[in-house]
Formats: sequence, C-alpha cells, structure tokens
Amino acid sequence: MTGATATLLAVRDLVVEYPGRRRRGDGIRAVRGVSLDIAPAAILALVGESGSGKTSLARAILRLQPVAAGQILLQGEDLTTLNPQQLRAARRDIQAVFQDPMASLSPRRSVLQTLREPLDHFRIGDAGERGDRATAALETVGLDPSLRHRLPHELSGGQRQRVALARALVSEPRLIVADEPLSSLDLPSQGRIVELLLEVRDRTGIAFLFVSHDLAVVRRLADAVAVMYLGTLVETAPAGTLFAQPAHPYTRALLAASPVPDPRLPPPAILQGEPPSALTPTRGCVFHKRCSERMARCVTEQPPETRAGDREPAHRVRCLLWNS
Ligand SMILES: Nc1ncnc2c1ncn2[C@@H]1O[C@H](COP(=O)(O)OP(=O)(O)OP(=O)(O)O)[C@@H](O)[C@H]1O
Ligand code: SF4
Ligand SMILES: [Mg+2]
Repeated sequence: MTGATATLLAVRDLVVEYPGRRRRGDGIRAVRGVSLDIAPAAILALVGESGSGKTSLARAILRLQPVAAGQILLQGEDLTTLNPQQLRAARRDIQAVFQDPMASLSPRRSVLQTLREPLDHFRIGDAGERGDRATAALETVGLDPSLRHRLPHELSGGQRQRVALARALVSEPRLIVADEPLSSLDLPSQGRIVELLLEVRDRTGIAFLFVSHDLAVVRRLADAVAVMYLGTLVETAPAGTLFAQPAHPYTRALLAASPVPDPRLPPPAILQGEPPSALTPTRGCVFHKRCSERMARCVTEQPPETRAGDREPAHRVRCLLWNS
C-alpha cells in the first residue's frame, strides 16, 4: 500500500461472493482479496481470461455489486461504509461505461436528455448551464452537436459508445470504470475510441479502470496493468515493464497467446486447459494446475505478493519463483 496522497482509488483486500443455490458453502468466490491503487489521471488496465472476476471487481468498485469484505477508498473515503444517500453523492466522482452501449442507454431518451440526466440528478448548474455542459461533453467525445436530438437506435455503435462516454464525463468524475467498452465495436471504431480516451484523460485528468481482453489495446492505452486469475491479482506493473518483463508464468502465457507475441519475450508457458472453477476452493497457488513451472510447494503454499526484481518497486507478483 502506498498510502501516498497521489492515490485516487485504493482497493484493499476486496472479496466478492455470489451465494450458492442449494446450501451454504456452494457459493462462488469471484474476487479473492484484491488490492490495487489508481493514481489521478492514470489508466489502469485489468486483464485476464473470461471468468477471472474482472466484471465482478469492476461492479464492486462501482458499488453495483455487494462486497463480502474489504475496502474501496475513493479519495480516502471508504465507499463500502456509505449509506445509500452518501453513495448517491459519491457516484458523481465515479462513473461507468459498459460493454454494450445499446443496453446501457435508454432507448427513448435523446442524446441531449441522456447527457442532461446526470446533471439533473446531481443538481449541477442551472438549466442553461446544463445544456452548455451537455454540448461540451458531446464535443469532448468528438460528436457533432447536431446529433443531440437523435435516439440511440439512430446512431452507429461507435457513436453510441461515444454518447455513453460523454454521459460518464458530463458530471466531471475523478474516475471512470470502463468494462470492455470497445468489444462491441469494429476495429477502426475501436482505434478511434482508444485515441479519444487518451485525449479525454489528458484534457480532463480523469483516471480510468479499463477492463479488457485485448492486449494490443491495453499496450496502447494503459499506464499500468493488473493481471487477474481466478479472482486474484497475480501481477501488477507499469505497462512498459509488464510487456517487456512479465514476471508471472500466467502473464507470460497470456502475452504469448495474444495475436502478436513479442519476439523478445522468454519462451512461453503454454496456457493449457480451462481455468479452474471459481466454485472450487483453491489450496496453494491459484495457477498451479496449469503452470508449466510448478514446484512441489506451489500445491500447498499460497504465494504472497512480492516485488518482481529490484528495478521497479511498482512491479508486484504472486509467484513462489520470486519468493524463494
Ligand atoms: N451473477 C452471478 N451469479 C453467480 N456467479 C456469477 C455471477 N456473475 C459472475 N459470476 C461468476 O463469477 C466468476 C467471475 O465472473 P466475472 O463475470 O466477474 O468474470 P470476467 O473476468 O468479467 O469474465 P468475462 O471476461 O467473460 O467478462 C465466474 O465464475 C462467473 O461464473
Ligand atoms: S507459484 Fe508456482 S504454480 Fe504458481 S505461478 Fe509461480 S511457479 Fe507457477
Ligand atoms: Mg466481464
């Protein structure tokens, strides 16, 4: 934990569980004690295979998902302890963009109505100012103000995702949590939104938690990367360090499995088999069933989080290879 004033979001030992259907103890532990920090104006990418717990973590941070244990400190205030009224006020500072803009935009609200809704909700400015802010948000995301009376179905997928981003921006939050915001778009639209996110961050100083499957996008966008496996962050590092010197066998396998593996990387551990079910309680390292570098103690010992090497203090890893 940094405890530094430069931390915007500090998540500590967060646990998310889904209750079982039949009996106590058959629930799913989707997030298993995750800690992470996001600095102001930083973009932290959260990556990992399907089912690793990325959405559960993102929704818990947004307080859309109950938290079984842990803290979510936004500018020092623990969101897990707020009453509903306090939480509504705190939501001005933490906004969301989801995967499918069609599902997250109201079909009967025009673009302008969509953008005014958070301003009305948080009582920001008077009527005239709300209109000006909505138009400014449209310009920030590169949408022509002439689109403001359109309904979502009258826009393209890329335009809809820009509206969703404008809606997240319009209340001037400190942090936007974006869960796979590009995956419903074609490649050229994805590229334009990536450039747009970087511009928005530079211009507004808003920080992002950016959930993505796509390592090529993460490479272009992220300042730091957190790698999730079975509800656990197995590696976190500044993006340049993670791509150049991945320390965890799972991260190396993920990078090797991405479409353009980096030829400078060490030989890959091949990702074989399915990830274990989040239902199963795990002894030892969460990755031991698939790890090509497994040692006898990996089956019983849980790796603590340690520094990966001496050069980069923010490069952290959970692997016994780094903990001998
Ligand atoms: N509402 C739910 N009820 C029960 N289990 C759930 C629920 N949502 C997710 N899970 C389980 O929690 C685990 C983590 O799921 P989650 O959706 O957070 O993963 P993810 O990393 O976002 O996956 P993807 O990349 O496919 O979006 C999985 O085992 C999933 O089946
Ligand atoms: S702790 Fe062991 S099983 Fe886990 S990643 Fe490291 S070497 Fe592999
Ligand atoms: Mg998900």
